[in-house]
Amino acid sequence: MKILNLGSMNIDRVYSVEHYAQAGETIPAKTYGEFCGGKGLNQSIALARAGAEVFHAGCVGDDGDILLDTMAAAGVRTELIRESGEPSGHAVIHVDHEGQNKITIFGGANSDVTPAYIDEVLAHFSPGEMLLLQNEISNVPYAIEKGREQGMKVVFNPSPMGGDIGRCDLRKVDYLILNEVEGRQLAGTDAEDTQTILEKLRQKYPQTVLVLTLGSRGSCYADGKETFYQGIFPAKTVDTTGAGDTFTGYFLAGIAAGRPPREAMEYAALASAISVGRHGAAPSIPDGSEVRLEMARLKEEYM
Ligand code: RIB
Repeated sequence: MKILNLGSMNIDRVYSVEHYAQAGETIPAKTYGEFCGGKGLNQSIALARAGAEVFHAGCVGDDGDILLDTMAAAGVRTELIRESGEPSGHAVIHVDHEGQNKITIFGGANSDVTPAYIDEVLAHFSPGEMLLLQNEISNVPYAIEKGREQGMKVVFNPSPMGGDIGRCDLRKVDYLILNEVEGRQLAGTDAEDTQTILEKLRQKYPQTVLVLTLGSRGSCYADGKETFYQGIFPAKTVDTTGAGDTFTGYFLAGIAAGRPPREAMEYAALASAISVGRHGAAPSIPDGSEVRLEMARLKEEYM
């Protein structure tokens, strides 16, 4: 199945720090690096590395060659991407000594995605094909509307929350992939337990497949017929940036290939565990062959 990912592309400026700076405090960074990132780009690379046929669409500036080249090298189709007059989007990322991060994004060219461009891109796709969206580009509510109208399978990762989310008609989304904080906000609950969050989301969006990521507690899949948990694979955490995107890409590649949800979730969990052991977002996403080999090794060891 062809997948269209209409999403952000960022240059990630990554500083590793002992702790995050408080208001009024100046701290030195231990290291600095620039990587390709953006939730859209990361998810496209994860999809491609997992073996899916993925077309990325979105906007970059005239400084965006590195973003295009990195995606193309991973096997992502980039011909629908447009150059805008704005500089490419970027992110300032602080990674602390536990591998956790704080991220500030500047939209740049990602905010130049117009309804007319979305129409042009969607014209290349057919009913039944997949449209993947995150919340880092402009006109996401329009894209959801048009993707559904065209009969595409609409997948939404409402991350980061805020911006246009309130204007998105999530009843038109086939798959919602989100973390617990996002789940709570969309469900309109303060409940801590996953079951309540899932139930409230299901009441609001009865037709939507829900995939809730729970950090160190794993993830949960619920499609109205079955609900199950997927545990994490142990990993030494170096940098969690892009781990959620790796999970999303691997999960959707499995679904697009017709694999059972349990298998797609298991591979997604392993791929994201591998990614947290490495620095950067896009560079940390493992190749499909590596994930398959590691899965086979683990199954042999524990069975
Ligand atoms: O999900 C990680 C990504 O969030 C980073 O690559 C950064 O660009 C921000 O979009």
